[in-house]
Amino acid sequence: MAIKRTDGRSLTELRPMIAKVGVIPNADGSAIFSFGDTVAIAAVYGPKQLHPQHMQDPATGILRCTYDLLSFSVHDRKKPGPSRRSQEISKVTEWALSPALDLQGFPNQVVDVQIYVIQADAGTRTAGINAASMALAHAGLPMKDLICSVACGKLDKDIVVDLNKDEEDFKDGEGATDFPLAKFATSDEFTLMQLDGKIQPERVKEVIEAATEACKEIYEVQKKALKEVVKH
Ligand code: CDP
Repeated sequence: MAIKRTDGRSLTELRPMIAKVGVIPNADGSAIFSFGDTVAIAAVYGPKQLHPQHMQDPATGILRCTYDLLSFSVHDRKKPGPSRRSQEISKVTEWALSPALDLQGFPNQVVDVQIYVIQADAGTRTAGINAASMALAHAGLPMKDLICSVACGKLDKDIVVDLNKDEEDFKDGEGATDFPLAKFATSDEFTLMQLDGKIQPERVKEVIEAATEACKEIYEVQKKALKEVVKH
């Protein structure tokens, strides 16, 4: 028998999503994206000259992402400032987004993306990637596609999408497996796959299928938010 999810969702059901672009007027592009109680905000600055100079690439501009959880975003106040976790997530966010960007027209320059999680209930890296992808599009940078991201996983024996924090901490049976993914919105090219926990190799295909379906819904939400700005 399938397990009952802590918030009553079906196995393939995402939390309610909210997305809006243009939320930080001073940024070149910005967006907010939420999965239920997980809320991420992203701001894009650039392209601008990259310093220090030895990091410049004369062949292309580069993407630099900075992710952090704000102190008040979690129940036990988080110590401000970077951590090993935030450095790791900043790096994988860069890797998840870079394949969709074409910065060849901006040699020696950098595009900075700042991502802050203002409320966390698991899935913050994926909400951050969704917000950042929209913010990059809002900034008008050349993109091959939007990037959509969701954490799928396994609760005991069931494949589920968009785990919340209670589910990530699930201990019964086989426990919880957290499997964050990101992909191009309109093709099957994945740009992020991480795994925290255990899963049978033959079940990975099920996770990828569930993520692909979930990303179609995420893409619709992102597109709708971007079209809202075009209208104004
Ligand atoms: O957020 P995400 O699932 O991408 O990454 P994680 O490292 O697996 O963190 C899971 C969740 O743990 C976060 O979304 C927060 O809800 C929580 N967390 C926390 O309460 N305090 C921290 N310092 C870090 C994470």
